[in-house]
Amino acid sequence: MIGVFDSGVGGMTVARAIEEALPDYPLIYFGDTARSPYGPKSPERIIHYSRQNTRFLLEQGARVVVIACNSAASVASDLIRQEFDVPVFEVITPAVQQAIAATRNGVVGVIGTRATIRSDIYRKMIAAAAPGVKVVSSPCPLLVPLVEEGWLDRRETKMVVRRYLHPLKMKQVDTLVLGCTHYPLLRNIIQPRIGKRVRVIDSAASVAAELRVFMEKNSDIGCDMVAGQGNRYYVSDVTDTALEIAAKIFGRKINLELANDNL
Ligand code: DGL
Repeated sequence: MIGVFDSGVGGMTVARAIEEALPDYPLIYFGDTARSPYGPKSPERIIHYSRQNTRFLLEQGARVVVIACNSAASVASDLIRQEFDVPVFEVITPAVQQAIAATRNGVVGVIGTRATIRSDIYRKMIAAAAPGVKVVSSPCPLLVPLVEEGWLDRRETKMVVRRYLHPLKMKQVDTLVLGCTHYPLLRNIIQPRIGKRVRVIDSAASVAAELRVFMEKNSDIGCDMVAGQGNRYYVSDVTDTALEIAAKIFGRKINLELANDNL
């Protein structure tokens, strides 16, 4: 089984891309809705939650783990790789590769939670792979609560987005990384506000493509579809908004199951 986790429902944008790319593999999702958002929390707390989330997925039978949360990936992916004996994928590396390939003027914007931007992971990774590329980043702490609240097309959300993107526009970024798996849900309001010529990057499809290549090469990993077993979506708190957003992301009703209380 492919295990995917996020702080909430945003990582479902990644889970959906994986479902589309790998329809024959069972997937188990965990969204930590009870403790979301992670973005304002300390690295220590996010690492602690990431370990618990990984353990939960492995207990349910996951053989591969996808960290579908930039905040968790930015501070915890190295540790998770060291501590757990399973292949670990995350959303930052593919976004970095895409951004480097996409930029023409060498100025890349990155938006994300406070935890992700504070970690400086995008700038470090882009500097290591493409030293000539400049990174302009901006934390956008209000966006995750707005998405989790379902305010995807509200006037207030548009105002907040415009305000956050202003400094990046001033620096003339030609590529913008959505460094949070919640942000693809705001893509329709982000694109016109950053400018229609700016390449907006989200890594869901490329993580899925990376995973597909890996699965094709490692067919013995024990992720084969078990007859009658559908994909499972767990959360640490079942709420109406989580159900609504899950349905919006997948375009169908999603049965959110409550994960056990040991998390
Ligand atoms: N989707 C998570 C991310 O990619 C949201 C973080 C949060 O819970 O603040 O960073």
